[in-house]
Amino acid sequence: MSAALDENATGSRYRPPVEVLQAMDGVPASTIISTRDLGKSYANGKPVFAGLKIDIKSDQRVALIGSNGAGKSTLLKCLVGLLPLSNGEIMTLGETFQSAPSATQLQRLRRQIGFVFQNHGLVGRQTVLTNVIQGKLGLPGGWRAWHHSLAREDWREEAMAVLAEVRLADKASSRADQLSGGQAQRIAIARALIRKPKLLIADEPAASLDPAVGREIMTIFSDLASEHGITLVYTTHDMEHALNYSDRIIALKAGRVHFDLPTAMVCRQQMEDVFHG
Ligand SMILES: Nc1ncnc2c1ncn2[C@@H]1O[C@H](COP(=O)(O)OP(=O)(O)OP(=O)(O)O)[C@@H](O)[C@H]1O
Ligand SMILES: [Mg+2]
Repeated sequence: MSAALDENATGSRYRPPVEVLQAMDGVPASTIISTRDLGKSYANGKPVFAGLKIDIKSDQRVALIGSNGAGKSTLLKCLVGLLPLSNGEIMTLGETFQSAPSATQLQRLRRQIGFVFQNHGLVGRQTVLTNVIQGKLGLPGGWRAWHHSLAREDWREEAMAVLAEVRLADKASSRADQLSGGQAQRIAIARALIRKPKLLIADEPAASLDPAVGREIMTIFSDLASEHGITLVYTTHDMEHALNYSDRIIALKAGRVHFDLPTAMVCRQQMEDVFHG
């Protein structure tokens, strides 16, 4: 593992720096995401959701569930400032905004957040190593991340370290389009991890994978979040993925928070109700 990931080179793993977050009034500093009266409508559409109050503490693994069209992806994008809100206020990682974050706030947010999506978004004709280093794009000096040959030596070392964490170091020089779906998703996780994110957002990260590989991907997410002290927010339609890899489950239904509970308190019937009730 590189020195950058292993701060004191004695085996302790990278953890994001602990900072006092600039919280909204009345929001504890340990809260990494907080929304008040959050509403979102697309042009000419009825509200996707309204009046959402959500608080997510740092270091938690949160599963966001709901049926197709419930608004999970929309909510994730609003929380990280990628979509403007129609109503209310959001605090994410100490950045408080209404409507949309300022350009500076958005830049600060992007530096602290890693994203993983269902279709992994790798550049197929590039090597795995280059794809992982491209996770640094948008960070200071990130233009050097366009290709691994331009990248700083310590970034190449970091990329190899995160590839080892997802157990794919042996694929560093393979082209990304030669990977299986599960391998590609592990590379996408490595690419998010190299940003040393405080917050990892994953929108249906296991949706297109077979059951065994889906469980493997969820285990990697969950273990990395715990080991590195990263807050993980993921969406899923899979009840087992929601129940087995989260500390908290937030269910969206009919434009509202249907429930928001510690995972240990959620029973299967409640889960069924979200999708069918
Ligand atoms: N860009 C857009 N323009 C207009 N309406 C949109 C847009 N994106 C999403 N919607 C609508 O907003 C609602 C919520 O969509 P969203 O994709 O957030 O749901 P979801 O819970 O992520 O669904 P899924 O489980 O299918 O991914 C849907 O009715 C959808 O049609
Ligand atoms: Mg979605």
